[in-house]
Amino acid sequence: RMNAKMLKAKEISDEEKLYRYNGVLYSTLLSPEEHLKCLEKMQAREDDIMLVAYPKCGFNWMVGVMRKIIAAATGVKSESKIPPLMEFYGPENLKVESVLDEAPSPRFLGTHLHPNNIPASFYEKKTKILVVFRNPKDTMVSFYHFSNSNPALPSAKSWDTFYSQFMSGEVAWGSYFDHALGWEKKMDDPNVMVVTYEEMKQDLSESIRKVSSFYGFSLTDAQVQQIADASTFKAMKESSASSHGNMGNVFFRKGEVGDWKNHFTPEQSREMDEVFNKRLAGTKIGAKLNY
Ligand code: A3P
Repeated sequence: RMNAKMLKAKEISDEEKLYRYNGVLYSTLLSPEEHLKCLEKMQAREDDIMLVAYPKCGFNWMVGVMRKIIAAATGVKSESKIPPLMEFYGPENLKVESVLDEAPSPRFLGTHLHPNNIPASFYEKKTKILVVFRNPKDTMVSFYHFSNSNPALPSAKSWDTFYSQFMSGEVAWGSYFDHALGWEKKMDDPNVMVVTYEEMKQDLSESIRKVSSFYGFSLTDAQVQQIADASTFKAMKESSASSHGNMGNVFFRKGEVGDWKNHFTPEQSREMDEVFNKRLAGTKIGAKLNY
């Protein structure tokens, strides 16, 4: 995974960790020029299994769930036998392009790219895209802690500073609200499905069923139950040493809904509500977020 690169990133100053691509900040882990060339050349396939999320919305949770779904649906005994997720978080790790080209179908792909920066062929080929979203307040809290524990990102100077940066979209991978509005345009597309962190927390089995049928997999009730049991926060945190190495504790921090109440001042909460109402009230994605 990213560990080696993340460690290397420790040597880079905070200022050098991000660069702008199409107006959105991304990590500089590899040279921007190289990435952009790869991104332009990248070709989607109709049968790609594509997962997209704004950072900290539960991407790694869904990766774990989907690997288990794919294993169960294809009769593979152990999840560890499933080919790894091929990530292209931003243009930064598209160096894997040749690997992507050579990989057999179906490829399991994941990215944090802004929907407008996802290569057009994914939309043209009608690749099924699963999007994970989360309440913006909890997403911000999770992102704040992540910034302080992931050497690839500029560290958050303070909660208040990070709050301002998040609200103005001046964080890696860009503005939460811009991502949401980008997906809003695709909410009627049958090849795009949005699942929220909160609905997974509320009824994981139901989310597993939804995701399985979206990708055309059929699972028995027993398989669904087994996957749900193995995908709780506790279970995934316990197995995170093998799935995420020494970044396990970073990606599996608290796993709860509502931690924002321990971080937001009343004033910040009010401001976020206002921005949410202004930008997302009346949208389909806003309704999904059940804010
Ligand atoms: P917290 O920081 O609030 O704990 P991402 O994978 O997109 O980076 O998102 C990380 C967030 O998802 C973290 O949120 C993490 O704890 C949470 N998470 C990961 N696995 C989870 C699970 N099985 N159940 C609930 N939350 C989970």
